[in-house]
Amino acid sequence: MAKIAVLGYGVVGSGTVEVFYKNKENLEKKAGEPLDIKYILDVRDFPDSPYADKFVKDFNIILNDPEVGVIAEVIGGLKYSYGYVKSALEAGKSVVTSNKELVAAKGAELLAIAKEKNVNFFFEASVGGGIPIIKPIHACLEANEIDEIAGILNGTTNFILTKMIREGMDFADALKIAQELGYAEHDPTADVEGIDACRKICILASLAFGRHVYPDNVHTEGITKVTLRDVEYMESFGAKIKLIGCARREDNDEISIGVFPAVIKDESQLAGVNDVFNAILVRGDATGDVVFYGKGAGKLPTASAVVSDIVSAVKHSDTSRSLTWSDSDQSFVRPFERFMCGNYIRLTAKNADAAKASVKEVFGNVEYLSSKNQPENELAFVTGVMSEKEAVDACGKMAESAEVTARIRVLDY
Ligand code: HSE
Repeated sequence: MAKIAVLGYGVVGSGTVEVFYKNKENLEKKAGEPLDIKYILDVRDFPDSPYADKFVKDFNIILNDPEVGVIAEVIGGLKYSYGYVKSALEAGKSVVTSNKELVAAKGAELLAIAKEKNVNFFFEASVGGGIPIIKPIHACLEANEIDEIAGILNGTTNFILTKMIREGMDFADALKIAQELGYAEHDPTADVEGIDACRKICILASLAFGRHVYPDNVHTEGITKVTLRDVEYMESFGAKIKLIGCARREDNDEISIGVFPAVIKDESQLAGVNDVFNAILVRGDATGDVVFYGKGAGKLPTASAVVSDIVSAVKHSDTSRSLTWSDSDQSFVRPFERFMCGNYIRLTAKNADAAKASVKEVFGNVEYLSSKNQPENELAFVTGVMSEKEAVDACGKMAESAEVTARIRVLDY
């Protein structure tokens, strides 16, 4: 009998317990032995819960119980989780987690401890909610050099952008609904400012390129500056605005990485990803593009990934070998000013026709866009591919004769 402990009984924790007991019989067949949750750790009391007898408040009860072989950490944040997970691994217990903040900040260290102790540290639920992506990258796409990963990695912001695009709903109302549905983080700043997506692209990049990428080294922007005006221009370009996390292999053994709202052409598989759904495109040198799609947030989809990791941890005691990356000094992360892409730019000028001459001089040939309610003194256009530095400098030059009101990068997937 494998005994499990669940740390945290919030949205994902309660979902984990629910999925576990709903599918217990089947999970036991897959694990090859009986399973049970022995403890649930939470600071709150749940006297009416059917699992009331399992609740404990002291982590040491779990840590010191030799019967517990697998711990599911679903508390989130770093404050308690890091210490709990580290000491559990050091004590020779396998850990599974949905905590992207923990994996993005401490993944290299925790993977090294797991390897040393010959136990597992799994985190399928940390990226893409219910979408299988961690295991596919390290176990199914092993034959490939991964050239690029790009994804819609945050359900809350994708939900908000979808509401803005389809219903013209304003930002605050859409965020409120996402919070009510249990998609958003405790502090939704992490969602709307791109911090959550940044943690997730760091995890994917670390796995794909074999060296830990820390969030502090990643250029990160959220969706708070995306306006309905910009969304309207996208119709004439045949594109959508999505919050994208991307990482690509460059020459000189470097990678480019960033999180920002991006214009994605409608032909791309990423453009049609709506509501709370996430999609992750992995470009392998043998497979070409492979796209993973599904619900990226929410109680049961995320719990599905946690419970699957629990079963894997029970079944395999030595699978940590291929799921690993090394720590790194970050010198392989290319400065963002060298990031290459096209740019959508919106500006207002006293005389829009006269401004077109300056646009040509500063940005070269561009494609002009139009929108239903376009003011006479407004121009919107898409440039060719240039570096981030060139784009910033060009906008600065353009600002001498016009007001640049928006710049959104254009990505080609
Ligand atoms: N707040 C996250 C999201 C939850 O909206 O995607 C899943 O990681």
